[in-house]
Amino acid sequence: MKAKELAELKKRLAPLPRHVGIIMDGNGRWASARGLPRPMGHRAGTERLRSLIRLSSDLGIEALSLYAFSTENWKRPRVEVETLFAIFMDYFNAEVEALHQNGVRITAMGDLEGLPESVRLSCLRAMEKTRANAGLRLNIALNYGSRAELGRAARLLAKDAASGRLDPASVDEASLQGRLWVADLPDVDLLIRTGGEKRLSNFMLLQLAYAELAFVEDYWPDFSDERYIEALADFAGRSRRFGGLDGE
Ligand code: IPE
Ligand code: IPE
Ligand code: MG
Repeated sequence: MKAKELAELKKRLAPLPRHVGIIMDGNGRWASARGLPRPMGHRAGTERLRSLIRLSSDLGIEALSLYAFSTENWKRPRVEVETLFAIFMDYFNAEVEALHQNGVRITAMGDLEGLPESVRLSCLRAMEKTRANAGLRLNIALNYGSRAELGRAARLLAKDAASGRLDPASVDEASLQGRLWVADLPDVDLLIRTGGEKRLSNFMLLQLAYAELAFVEDYWPDFSDERYIEALADFAGRSRRFGGLDGE
């Protein structure tokens, strides 16, 4: 996009969310609708990432959290899970260098210990390589579940209290927040779920407390830049009150 065009778009979309979360749903149905096997939908889904990440970064959005694999997705047939991991690996291997060049900082959020070693190492390498980058924060939720995250945070709090490092009376929202898998992100401002379902499926429940929600019908592989811009424009027009009154 040309600089002038981008500047105009930014103006039209102000105020932009600082942090966008996306539940990338509908890959399987996208494939089935075409008579293709479900994994083809997951492949097609990753094709959408490049320009979406680029656009987020060009617009100056600070953080983008993408739900890639949930703690409940292990219930799927083993072949589908294995194919998904193979696709993640291909994606990381093909894209990390370009993301790095573009100043993107990658973090993975979830139980990485529970992932196959090759996937875990790819994530860790990508995080390490891009650690000092100051551009878009790309936060990938892999083997992520909000309940698992909160359970773990509670465990860490209990451990610190038991060892005397933490006074139980001082436990508050901030000490809980500080023990999430990725603790240094602002709350999610805008959550987009593709694929037509209107639910959160265990994604960032705490971080979404005051998020604006956008449910779009498109299956993830069909979710275009134009649709993303529509969701951002809709967000810009909303009145966020955080419990207060307009204009205060
Ligand atoms: C989302 O697409 C991708 C993952 C959950 C990994 P789905 O695979 O859930 O696609 P649908 O919802 O079955 O169409
Ligand atoms: C949510 O989609 C998880 C991801 C997009 C990674 P699901 O397809 O797993 O959610 P449900 O089963 O429809 O709630
Ligand atoms: Mg789904």
